Amino acid sequence: MERGFTVWFTGLSGAGKSTIAERLAPVLKERGCNVEILDGDIVRTHLSKGLGFSKEDRDINIRRIAFVAHLLSRNGVAVITAAISPYRDVRAEAREMIGDFVEVYAKCPIDTLAERDVKGLYKKALAGEIQNFTGVSDPYEEPLTPEVVVNTDTETVDESLAKVVAALEEHGYLTPASRAVR
Ligand code: ADX
Repeated sequence: MERGFTVWFTGLSGAGKSTIAERLAPVLKERGCNVEILDGDIVRTHLSKGLGFSKEDRDINIRRIAFVAHLLSRNGVAVITAAISPYRDVRAEAREMIGDFVEVYAKCPIDTLAERDVKGLYKKALAGEIQNFTGVSDPYEEPLTPEVVVNTDTETVDESLAKVVAALEEHGYLTPASRAVR
């Protein structure tokens, strides 16, 4: 059986977690991995339907994602999670439970996110129409020692993706692709 692992994205809404996750999945499949993505928005419509954005509800959401990632990883699956996961302590719990854990911080200044505002949520949050919005009126605790930091305001998606793949190779989860086939 292949060695499973979890690539755990964390970062503010709109920072590019899902975008990089969606690009990473086919790369991992090409390298022979069985892949599952646990995306925050999708998990919240199924596994975590009905949960809100209080610390308690976010913690439940993240613990559910971590539990499923744990089950899949230990059965050889390459799991990619993409939820804000704003709290350091619960990310640490996830790391401990999963073991084979590569944390990727999708880092982008809040001003840039508010300017882009792909989902229109920052405008509402800044106007006070959404309570407890991460980075605006709710905490985001940056990872202190993530395996990877992708600076999504200055890097292209390809550059960020390459950093993640390189880290997976460094940590022994992927065999480096031979230069001949690159
Ligand atoms: S987490 O904090 O529990 O990890 P998760 O990634 O599942 O969050 O969900 C975040 C998504 O929910 C955001 O991308 C955004 O679309 C939406 N959302 C709605 N309300 C909030 C809020 N108050 N704070 C953050 N995101 C919110």
